[in-house]
Amino acid sequence: RDEPLVLGIETSCDETGIGIVRGRTLLSNTIASSMAEHARYGGVVPEVAARAHLEALQPAIEAAVAEAGVELSDLDAVAVTSGPGLAGALMVGVGAAKSLAVALDKPLYAVNHLVGHIAADILTGDDVEYPTVALLVSGGHTSLLLVRDLVSDVEMLGETMDDAAGEAFDKIARILGLPYPGGPEIDRAAATGDPNAIRFPRGLSRASDMAAHRYDFSFSGLKTAVARWIEQREAAGEPVPVADVAASFREAVVDVLVTKALDACAQHGVPRLLLGGGVIANRRLREVALERAAAAGVAVRIPPLSLCTDNGAMIAALAAELIAGGAAPSTLAFGADSTLPV
Ligand code: KG4
Ligand code: ZN
Repeated sequence: RDEPLVLGIETSCDETGIGIVRGRTLLSNTIASSMAEHARYGGVVPEVAARAHLEALQPAIEAAVAEAGVELSDLDAVAVTSGPGLAGALMVGVGAAKSLAVALDKPLYAVNHLVGHIAADILTGDDVEYPTVALLVSGGHTSLLLVRDLVSDVEMLGETMDDAAGEAFDKIARILGLPYPGGPEIDRAAATGDPNAIRFPRGLSRASDMAAHRYDFSFSGLKTAVARWIEQREAAGEPVPVADVAASFREAVVDVLVTKALDACAQHGVPRLLLGGGVIANRRLREVALERAAAAGVAVRIPPLSLCTDNGAMIAALAAELIAGGAAPSTLAFGADSTLPV
């Protein structure tokens, strides 16, 4: 009961997440998503997301407090994602967090979204060991990180140079005429396809790319290759084998993600890999990661999906760790930073 009671606010993309933790114990994790509103655009529209956060925040906070069985006045601290993410969306959460902290006269902790994803693992109740490599893949980011210490030593090894992995799934789904969000649709379509039917390119995997971009990702060339392949089929008047295209595309994404993550483990002598982000729902990604990691002697951790997708509990959990480590709260001078480094 001495552990800090923290409310976390997450609004970096399209999920309005409010989570409450007591130390490392999860009390509530409320999520309102504006994904359905973005469906007709085929991707997250920043302005629409920001407005949706504004409407969803108050009810989400009330629901989270009720679910946790606490009062706002019981809180020891408020935490919020200050970046990276969509500027307008972040600003809504940061504004709400500042107001709440001032109104309640509680300390406020501004935290990094990506480090929050790593902190989510703490809430699983298992002992988390460091160092670990972390692969975070969602509709907004694709990042490979080396975590020596959660609160003091997180190093960005690499990230996507263009589309995020989830974004690539969404764009290919659109080309194939599948609805948004495309990840689950491609996953389903791929189930009956042959992953080796078409050899699509693995971005930034050539020897010539490795010096400068060993741990970076690129999915735009893959997207173009898939689009061109489909165009050629259609031009030849042949039907597009959707299952084979989906399976071969998925294989290319999964292959490059797992190869680079395990390369990072090997190069840094780290026998642990943590996975996070909404793309972790991908069946083939989980399967290949577990298979190849086992062969490489690397232990894989995959938190439950409700903690992998964007949520407020991971933000609260990170702040609770910062408090336990004696970190000072943020001053009110901070703002949203769409490109905040780890
Ligand atoms: O973390 P997340 O819920 O939120 C944001 O990024 O905002 O991730 C959503 C992304 C979307 O791009 C979606 O298509 C992708 O994750 N996704 C998947 C799967 N389920 C969701 N991608 C591949 N396979 C899946 N099964
Ligand atoms: Zn995220």
